[in-house]
Amino acid sequence: MKAGLEDVVAGESGICYIDGLLGILAYRGYNIHELAPNSTFEETCHLLWFGKLPDGRQLKETSARITAERALPGPILDLIAAFPKKALPMEVLRTSVSALAMYDPEAEDMAPEANVRKAIRLTAQCGTLITAFHQIRNGKPPIAPRADLGYAANFYYMLTGKMPNDTIVKAIDVSLILHADHELNASTFAGRVTAGTLSDMYSACTSAIGALKGPLHGGANEAVMRMLLEIDNPSRVDAFVKSIFEQKKKIAGFGHRVYRTEDPRATHLRRMSKEACEREGQSKWYEMSARIEELVKAEKKLNPNVDFYSASTYYVSGIPIDLFTPFFAVSRMSGWTAHFLEQYSNNRLIRPRAEYIGPSPDLKWVPVSQR
Ligand SMILES: CC(C)(COP(=O)(O)OP(=O)(O)OC[C@H]1O[C@@H](n2cnc3c(N)ncnc32)[C@H](O)[C@@H]1OP(=O)(O)O)[C@@H](O)C(=O)NCCC(=O)NCCS
Repeated sequence: MKAGLEDVVAGESGICYIDGLLGILAYRGYNIHELAPNSTFEETCHLLWFGKLPDGRQLKETSARITAERALPGPILDLIAAFPKKALPMEVLRTSVSALAMYDPEAEDMAPEANVRKAIRLTAQCGTLITAFHQIRNGKPPIAPRADLGYAANFYYMLTGKMPNDTIVKAIDVSLILHADHELNASTFAGRVTAGTLSDMYSACTSAIGALKGPLHGGANEAVMRMLLEIDNPSRVDAFVKSIFEQKKKIAGFGHRVYRTEDPRATHLRRMSKEACEREGQSKWYEMSARIEELVKAEKKLNPNVDFYSASTYYVSGIPIDLFTPFFAVSRMSGWTAHFLEQYSNNRLIRPRAEYIGPSPDLKWVPVSQR
C-alpha cells in the first residue's frame, strides 16, 4: 500500500469526474471548461445537489432558496463578535459552522428533503459568516446580505460594503464554480467519513473545514500570496526559487496528488490572474507567478495547481489574504454538501483497516516498579 491512500478508490460517486492523466475535471458530466465561462455558482450548486442542470424555473427557484437563507441567526453574530479579533478566519468558520447546528431546528432531521434544505442553508450562510467576521474584526457592524444580488456580487458587497463591477463579479463567480467540487479530496473524504456515521450535516461540514484548513490542502493559496509578497520584486524571483530548491522545500501552489498534467482549474485561473492583475495595474504579481511557474516546471516538472494563480487573482480583487481559504470553503460547501447527500442516500459506515506495524501483540504487562 502506498502512503496517503494514493490511488486507492475509496467509494463510488456520481458527482465529480477527474482524469489525472488527461487533465479532465467534470461535475455531473459537464467539463469544467464548459461550466467556467457559461455557468453561475447558483446553477453549479443546483447541478451538484440535484444531478442535472436546472431549467429556467428550477434555476430561479434554487437561486431564490439560496438567497433566502443568507442571513445568520442573531446568537451566531453575537458568538462571532465574542471571538478574538485576531482569530484565524478558518477557525471562526470551523467553530461557527459547528455552532449553526444549535440554531437549526432541522439539524438532526435526516429526511432527504431536510438535508437538502441544510445543504442550501450551509452554502448560503458560509459567505455571510466570513464577511461578518471580517467586518467585526475591523470594528464595523456586519453588512446585511442584499436579496437583489447574486451569490458572487453579494459576497463582495458584504465583504467590502461596495458594489463590485461586472469584471470582479465574473472573477468571483468563476472562482466559485472552479472550486466547487473535486471528488474525494482530503476535506470531502473527511466529511464523508463523518456523514457515514450518520452524524448530522453540520458535523460533516465541520470535519471538512478542519481538513481544508491545512497548508497541504486549501491553505496553500494563502501561502502562495505570502510567498509573492515576500519576493515582492520580479527581479528577485529567480534567486528566491533557487534558494527554495537548495533547501529542498516545497513551493506552495505546485504539485497534485491526482493530476499528472496541468490542473484544468489552473488554466482558467492563470488567465484570470493575468486579466485581473493588468486591470488593477498590479501586473507584477502575475509576472512573478508566471516566472515561478517557468522555473518550477523546468527544475521539478511540476505544474501549478488550483491554488497558485488563485492567490494573485483574489489579492488584486480585494479579498484579504487570510480570507482566501475561507473563500475556497464558501465554494466547496456546495460540493461537500452534495457529497454528504450522496453518502446519506446510500450509506454504509466508512471504516477501513490499518496495516499493523507495531510490536507483536502478545507482550506481557509488568508492574510499573519492574519496568
Ligand atoms: C499537493 C501535494 C500535497 C501532493 O502531495 P503528494 O501527492 O503526497 O506528493 P509528494 O509530497 O509525495 O511529492 C512527490 C514529489 O514531488 C515533490 N513535490 C511535490 N510538490 C512539490 C512542491 N510544491 N514543490 C517542490 N517539490 C514538490 C516532493 O518533494 C516529492 O519529491 P521526492 O519524490 O523527490 O521526495 C504536494 O504536491 C504539495 O505539498 N504541494 C504544495 C502544497 C499545495 O500546493 N497544496 C495544494 C494542493 S491543491
